[in-house]
Amino acid sequence: MLLLAETLLFYSCNLHQPKESFLLGSHAGAQQVTGVSRFKFNGQERPLLQEERALAVDSFLVVLVLSALPKIFRSEGVSLFKLEASKMVGPWVWATVVAWTIALVAALVVGVLYTRGSGRCTSTRRLDGKTAIITGASAGIGKETARDLAGRGARVILACRNTEKAQKVANEIIAVTGNQQVLVRHVDTSNMSSVRKFAYGILSSENNLHILINNAGIPGYTTRKLTSEGLEMAMATNHFGHFLLTNLLLDLLKASAPSRVVNVTSNAHWMCHHLDTDDLNYKWRHFPGWLPSYGQSKLSNILFTLELSQRLEGTGVTTNSVHPGVVNTEIFWKEGWKIINFYAVIAAWIMAKDEKLGAQPVVYLAVSEEVDNVSGKYFVDCKEAPSSTLAQDPALAKRLWGASEKLVDLHS
Ligand SMILES: NC(=O)c1ccc[n+]([C@@H]2O[C@H](COP(=O)([O-])OP(=O)(O)OC[C@H]3O[C@@H](n4cnc5c(N)ncnc54)[C@H](OP(=O)(O)O)[C@@H]3O)[C@@H](O)[C@H]2O)c1
Repeated sequence: MLLLAETLLFYSCNLHQPKESFLLGSHAGAQQVTGVSRFKFNGQERPLLQEERALAVDSFLVVLVLSALPKIFRSEGVSLFKLEASKMVGPWVWATVVAWTIALVAALVVGVLYTRGSGRCTSTRRLDGKTAIITGASAGIGKETARDLAGRGARVILACRNTEKAQKVANEIIAVTGNQQVLVRHVDTSNMSSVRKFAYGILSSENNLHILINNAGIPGYTTRKLTSEGLEMAMATNHFGHFLLTNLLLDLLKASAPSRVVNVTSNAHWMCHHLDTDDLNYKWRHFPGWLPSYGQSKLSNILFTLELSQRLEGTGVTTNSVHPGVVNTEIFWKEGWKIINFYAVIAAWIMAKDEKLGAQPVVYLAVSEEVDNVSGKYFVDCKEAPSSTLAQDPALAKRLWGASEKLVDLHS
């Protein structure tokens, strides 16, 4: 299936010249595995493009598999390819096919075990009369969290950058839960002016705030990308925006205590091995790519939680951070993930939790009685879990707080 899907993807990416692209896929694969780097079509020869080379081997294997099913799939490309394949198929090619099959079966088994073992929120607590804000509730984990909290009777504010998309989600939640108190408000967490505007709007419209879920997130970019305010995009979206938002809403949270702040982070924080609080936006340092920079933003979420919990001691406001698990959401199609999106999407589809299950650890921290008095902790699968050494460093958390305060101009 995986290989078939990939061939179709390759094929559909080249629909402007379908016949050529299909032949290219099969020929290029055959040529690449035999070390030839030129493509011949209609008597003309040209070098393979970089992206063609990348997809070639897989295409080759797909066609190989398809060629074993002549009744299902007959085409000029396949017959042509069969001719070439028959000459060059060696045991190692079959070994690759077998390896793919084993990997697929293993992935399925891992997926079943992983989702079965995932934590679930068993609390039946109602939230009537409570107000919750969820950033990034127009999709994925945020959307399912919003649905759950609305089902418990809360007034839920979907804080989203795409209000049209979010309104559709709100309408769906209202229809399913019957709760009319599901509202959409605009915020772009990567833009500090937008965050301020949103926060002031909330302060003027809401009398209470019991649950703030800082969920919006992007996986980051392959190259350093800055916002119009000069902040690195993943740091701005995932950390700075939520840092500012929480601080601006803190008095309202305190006045509504007991209340909670839940920061949605990730196990990817382990990917960050050094946090330079003097250069959070990679102005002077080499930009390490999307995964380490995503890791830095997610490490910042945990350190923010740590320092915030210290500052909130005795206020009745608790805060915890949570890794939702590997969840099959739109995030795999976005920004940084695009480099490997096809593989990521397939892997997520086979192995990851669905969005509803992915929202469970977030809902747990937002509502469960078990964490009524727990603060400053990191959770995975509805259980407290170890985080990286950096993530537990209170001095680093303080330095991050100080640097973030300056960068978002908190006291302006
Ligand atoms: N999925 C996973 O496996 C996984 C694993 C670990 C951690 N997480 C974390 O879980 C959180 C939710 O991710 P997800 O998987 O549910 O991803 P998702 O389906 O892509 O949802 C992300 C949400 O954040 C919103 N968003 C992105 N940039 C924003 C911005 N600048 N301003 C306001 N909203 C913004 C998106 O809005 P649009 O709808 O407009 O795009 C969307 O609503 C993220 O913090 C992510 O880092 C996810």
